[in-house]
Amino acid sequence: MSAHGKHKRLTTASIRQMKGEARIVCLTAYTTPIARLLDTHCDLLLVGDSLGMVLYGMDTTVGVTLDMMIAHGRAVMRGVEHACVIVDLPFGTYQESKEQAFRNAVRLMQETGCDGVKLEGGEEMAETIAFLVARGIPVFGHVGLMPQLVHTAGGFRSLGHSDAETQKIWRDAIAVDQAGAFAIVVEGTVEPLARELTEKLAAPTVGIGASPACDGQVLVSDDMLGLFTDFKPKFVKRFADLGPTVSEAAAAYADEVRSGAFPGPEHTFQVRRQSPSGK
Ligand code: KIV
Repeated sequence: MSAHGKHKRLTTASIRQMKGEARIVCLTAYTTPIARLLDTHCDLLLVGDSLGMVLYGMDTTVGVTLDMMIAHGRAVMRGVEHACVIVDLPFGTYQESKEQAFRNAVRLMQETGCDGVKLEGGEEMAETIAFLVARGIPVFGHVGLMPQLVHTAGGFRSLGHSDAETQKIWRDAIAVDQAGAFAIVVEGTVEPLARELTEKLAAPTVGIGASPACDGQVLVSDDMLGLFTDFKPKFVKRFADLGPTVSEAAAAYADEVRSGAFPGPEHTFQVRRQSPSGK
């Protein structure tokens, strides 16, 4: 507990200091109950715009809005006492200008109480990142595979297989690092490049599909919990198999409702009569 009676959560500065000391554990969270379950085990919780695909069934993250991120950011903040919480700036809310990015990052921070924002982009976003950081907004960078660019990048695939790709990711990561990001997501990137970036950058790298060479790892929680039965990219390890468990529970419920076995007497309220004396 702090002097104000609140639990002290990890800060973006403490996450940065973990570089070279301890691996950073990060998972996505979008709701209060999941945030409560993950909180003590994670250093960082990311309210990622992946929620558009995971929770809302969108094909890409492009349709996610700032209001959606604010609603889920607030929900996650109600469930945390330990982890540092970062909320994604969604597509179209920061790329226009550094002023637009500042305005929307301030909304995210003021309306959710989160510790910082994440945005995708390399060289082209460096000026914006520096602008935000200089004005008190911690920024989690994101280079390599950038899902918000799916329409120009031509799909989701691992990167760093050609010299041109490698050099571009290098330039992006260096620019984001020099702009002052407190940490950088490296997504979908071959191992040698992820290793070199991790060695070279001042900021810790948090990998997703970017090998064990990174300073930390992030996964979409629903992926690692096995909630999707039809989706398992190479970089995801299922630490649980909740999809079939949920489906079996729903089937058992349906059977009992149809047969009349549920609800039983133990789930049923009966009238409690008071005695005439009122005792
Ligand atoms: O949106 C997201 O959840 C992310 C992580 C997968 C890094 O950006």
